[in-house]
Amino acid sequence: MEHFKALWTEENQDGSFKTSLQDLSTEILASHEVLVQVLYSSLNYKDALSAHGHRGITQQFPHIPGIDAAGIVLNDASGKFQAGDQVIITGFDLGMNTHGGLSELIQVPASWIIPLPPNLSLKRAMQIGTAGLTAGMAVLALRQNNIFPDSGEILVTGASGGVGMCAIKLLHHLGYRVLALSGKAEMAETLIKIGASRVIDRVEFMSEKPRTLYPMTFAGGIDTVGGDVLVKLIKSLQFAGAVAVCGMAGGVDLPLQVYPFILRGARVLGIYSADSPLEKKQDIWNLYANEWNYELEAIAETINLVQAPEVLSSMLEGRSHGRYLVQILD
Ligand SMILES: NC(=O)c1ccc[n+]([C@@H]2O[C@H](COP(=O)([O-])OP(=O)(O)OC[C@H]3O[C@@H](n4cnc5c(N)ncnc54)[C@H](OP(=O)(O)O)[C@@H]3O)[C@@H](O)[C@H]2O)c1
Repeated sequence: MEHFKALWTEENQDGSFKTSLQDLSTEILASHEVLVQVLYSSLNYKDALSAHGHRGITQQFPHIPGIDAAGIVLNDASGKFQAGDQVIITGFDLGMNTHGGLSELIQVPASWIIPLPPNLSLKRAMQIGTAGLTAGMAVLALRQNNIFPDSGEILVTGASGGVGMCAIKLLHHLGYRVLALSGKAEMAETLIKIGASRVIDRVEFMSEKPRTLYPMTFAGGIDTVGGDVLVKLIKSLQFAGAVAVCGMAGGVDLPLQVYPFILRGARVLGIYSADSPLEKKQDIWNLYANEWNYELEAIAETINLVQAPEVLSSMLEGRSHGRYLVQILD
């Protein structure tokens, strides 16, 4: 194969960015060890940033975005994988400064690759993707910090997003009582259907007068929003509560005093899935293949590469919801 199809993000002369489906030469792929035919990818917030020229994610353009890929090994110069092996690649530098998974082909180091576990399909792996992997790591972090289903309610922020919906499904599956914080009234019914016991409107939640501490309400939280929403969540934790901090869809600043920590023993658990050790990622994939093998169709919409740029734009504007599975071949 000398040419392949992929999404291509280019910088326009006026400094804006355009992402479109292009026929590209295989010569542009990095000379890493393993060539993979991608069958499925997915969309994550980081892809939206990369596809819109965010230099914190991608420094060099033109570029193929896509931090997730699942497919079949075509050849491996390292000898670790055989042609025909089914594999998953998420995170590391994929889709950042290495051409990414929104493409028929990727070429990556063998050290980034996870063999597809038995009982998991390539399609399901990408319905989960980085968002599900991150939600999984967040839930495990809460458990490791003694936040169990009988501890009390867990607040998931950015609830209608990819990480948010994955977190709600997983917490519900494990028997937790989940509250969903969302800015989208129209998503309330869906959030209840997938396992939230109640939906809290984000504007209403944030309308309360700022206080040093709020009543002790939540046993734990999974936060994808950051900023003032995260501050209020930390100040509203029960004694020895914990929040797994994943994202910054709403802001990066954390204006906070030390009181929740020294008066209530609040704990903040940082989550970063992209560069997690391969073994840690493998553990989560194994859980999704077995104990966490619940249905995901309700939260994942299937789209193709042509539809992806529009969805990536809607993500940055906060208009998207749930997971987007990208089927690479028509
Ligand atoms: N740490 C990690 O390893 C890791 C991994 C994956 C993702 N992330 C991060 O997690 C965040 C969510 O990722 P995602 O893929 O789930 O993105 P997403 O699908 O775009 O979801 C983000 C959600 O956040 C809420 N939101 C958007 N803009 C907001 C704003 N201005 N203020 C408050 N809330 C806002 C929206 O939910 P509602 O309308 O329902 O409120 C939106 O659906 C991103 O910051 C991403 O970079 C981190």
